Amino acid sequence: MTEAAIPVLTIDGPSGSGKGTISRAVAARLGWHYLDSGALYRAVGVAAGWADLDLDDAGALVRCAFDTDIGFRDSADGEPRVLVNGHDATDELRTETAGAAASAIAAIPEVRSALKERQRVFRQPPGLVADGRDMGTVIFPDAAIKVFLTASAEERAERRYKQLKDKGVSVTLDGLLREILARDARDASRAVAPLRPAEDAVRIDTTGQGIDVVVERVLALVPGRAA
Ligand code: C5P
Repeated sequence: MTEAAIPVLTIDGPSGSGKGTISRAVAARLGWHYLDSGALYRAVGVAAGWADLDLDDAGALVRCAFDTDIGFRDSADGEPRVLVNGHDATDELRTETAGAAASAIAAIPEVRSALKERQRVFRQPPGLVADGRDMGTVIFPDAAIKVFLTASAEERAERRYKQLKDKGVSVTLDGLLREILARDARDASRAVAPLRPAEDAVRIDTTGQGIDVVVERVLALVPGRAA
């Protein structure tokens, strides 16, 4: 199978729009591979933190993006574990600190280039579900199916709050809403690969919608799977 023949379904959207949960569920239902591109940016952010790098030192961050070893390992709960330089950093990756560091380094064009090929290698038979901000616009512009998920900022903050609370992380709803709005603004306004729907993306607003309903709506877009 040539690379172009391997189907890709991209799911982009802002943080808390449900991308991760929906993408993993869709990938599992289709039996396709799954790329959590945000984890790559978070992994570089965490590795930069471990190395005490300055988030303003673009050169050092670009080297870090090239040098950091990032691996994924399946786990029993269906949420893959992420290994950064051989250490299981899954829990650290989920923190808002890692998210903010990822968003800061993701604005550096050379960091994005450094991670480009690392994302494209996930395109393997029988298919790939790719979750991120620029999957449909930059990384897999030829994807056959593109989805852009949205939800109100308030609902996204609440989802994140519940997720983090379940994991025992102490946060406030107000603080999360502020961080989400700041991250949205930074992701949408950066010069390189800003967060925006691909022209051929199907937009799905997940505000007030259950996971199962959204998963079915996405699956209905896959040829041969329409309900
Ligand atoms: O999706 P997640 O919240 O894990 O992503 C963390 C950050 O990484 C985002 O806020 C964004 O700045 C950056 N990112 C990106 N492009 C992607 C995925 C994530 O710029 N494809």
